[in-house]
Amino acid sequence: MLVLGLETSCDDTAAAVLHDGKELLSNIINDQTSVHSKYGGIVPELAGRSHIDQIHKVILQSLKSAQVELREIDLIAVTVGPGLIGSLLVGMNAAKGIAYGLGIPLIGVNHLEGHLLAIFLQKKIEFPFISLVVSGGHTDIYRVNNFGQYKILGRTRDDAAGESFDKVAKMLGQKYPGGPIIEKMAMDGNSEAHKFPRAYLEKGSLDFSFSGLKTSVKTYINKRQTYKQGDLTDNDIAAGFQDAVVEVLCKKIIMACEKEGLTRVVVTGGVAANGSLRKAVESVCDRSGFKSWFPAPVFCTDNAAMIACAGYHKFNSFPESKADLLNLDASASLVID
Ligand code: KG4
Ligand code: ZN
Repeated sequence: MLVLGLETSCDDTAAAVLHDGKELLSNIINDQTSVHSKYGGIVPELAGRSHIDQIHKVILQSLKSAQVELREIDLIAVTVGPGLIGSLLVGMNAAKGIAYGLGIPLIGVNHLEGHLLAIFLQKKIEFPFISLVVSGGHTDIYRVNNFGQYKILGRTRDDAAGESFDKVAKMLGQKYPGGPIIEKMAMDGNSEAHKFPRAYLEKGSLDFSFSGLKTSVKTYINKRQTYKQGDLTDNDIAAGFQDAVVEVLCKKIIMACEKEGLTRVVVTGGVAANGSLRKAVESVCDRSGFKSWFPAPVFCTDNAAMIACAGYHKFNSFPESKADLLNLDASASLVID
């Protein structure tokens, strides 16, 4: 079965062709970094316009790169939420048009389910497992029981981890997206130079909070000169901040495994591309006798291969979930059910 996946929930226009759920024939991503970077974050109206400009080019490129004709596609999988509504509508309407024109089924995919199943592009993980989805919009811990069976165990109560990376980068005068920049700066910084606060919340809670950490970094930057360690560099701040995020994420992963009696962990979403996080999770899991997996960085950040993969499994496990073309709608705040 050939699946064409489309993803336009945020600031990446992406299309991918996947054969039988595992053989990735193409994975095209047009990221809008140059559109948004000077604003320090995503401008929704500009994101929507850029998707309109790019969607057809990206689809054609994905077919060409896969050496597949449009009429050979058997199923379309498209992100229908959560995300920016103007962005989601571009991908969804393109998908509807193609499905209607070809007379083939369309599957609406939750963006988070795409992240949760991205690992299956590379590896078949045995169910059940703990999955941390850590991105610019989400920091959620799930128990994944099977395809389509997800139980949320904890989520952020304020900023997502990726959002805090982006905001701290902006405070340090850096561009969007801040995650990769902070990671690079942290390599030349001393994470021990200043210990930023870690929010663990109530005892046993698997929720997260990153806004206090972000405020603490802001306060520190503003008052840098009056502190005793006034010579802390931007790289030290980046390293100290990253350390605080990584430590909290690691502790909550271990807590989730212990609470659920599970030993398999998958970490996914844009922030899972972070080398320090990958190393730290691997090391704490090893120490606890747990096994951890991460999608390749290109499948951690937003992409359409993960949407094609989730759509393939959803269609095979629940063929009745095929969308009604006239009634399918996008939802900015879609939840996983
Ligand atoms: O999954 P994603 O591409 O989009 C959302 O669904 O949000 O994640 C984007 C987020 C951004 O906040 C970006 O700064 C962060 O992931 N990110 C990183 C790294 N690469 C991307 N954060 C930390 N380290 C990275 N290497
Ligand atoms: Zn995402």
